[in-house]
Amino acid sequence: MNNDNGQANEALSSGGNAGKKERVAVYPGSFDPVTFGHLDIIRRSARQFDRLVVAVLNNTSKSPMFTVEERKELLAEVTKDLPNVEIDSFRDLTVRLVKSKDGDVIIRGIRSVTDFEYELQLASTNHLLDPEIDTMFMMTNPKYSYLSSSIVKEIAMFHGEVTELVPPEVESRLKAKIEARKG
Ligand SMILES: Nc1ncnc2c1ncn2[C@@H]1O[C@H](COP(=O)(O)OP(=O)(O)OP(=O)(O)O)[C@@H](O)[C@H]1O
Ligand SMILES: [Mg+2]
Repeated sequence: MNNDNGQANEALSSGGNAGKKERVAVYPGSFDPVTFGHLDIIRRSARQFDRLVVAVLNNTSKSPMFTVEERKELLAEVTKDLPNVEIDSFRDLTVRLVKSKDGDVIIRGIRSVTDFEYELQLASTNHLLDPEIDTMFMMTNPKYSYLSSSIVKEIAMFHGEVTELVPPEVESRLKAKIEARKG
């Protein structure tokens, strides 16, 4: 076989995946800090896609407890056993981030009717901005239907127990952060 043919064959077969686009989803949020509720959504959606990008929203209007770097570090730590999950941050429209990752799906979690109303508004706005991108919803694991980052911070601030709510790495960083603030 001559060289030209060899290359052509390779291009056609390319790992048996030719013409099949990688399925990429983006899960955006503030993750301030990541909870077992977020982690549950991450694990379940990572099974449905080739790649899942968890993206920390660098939102100037909220005043976060953890910096974007700290939130990314914690996310990287608690997802290190998930090879197709990558952590990133962004300060832009979500649909633009999705495009830049070569993705076409936004993942969001739903805990309640209140979440649904807000999420419907977000999804509709994103659809308006880019109709090629779909939002897919994951229903909460009933175990975590009440769980939010805000609740975790509230409990930790008053030295309540958060062992059941966040991974151990997050728990110790929360404690350190609260001690440092008092100092
Ligand atoms: N326990 C949970 N179960 C299912 N989805 C969740 C859970 N917690 C958060 N989510 C979803 O994750 C996405 C990102 O949420 P976000 O970063 O606002 O977290 P949060 O816990 O709601 O934080 P905050 O208390 O700061 O609002 C949203 O779609 C949200 O609905
Ligand atoms: Mg929220």
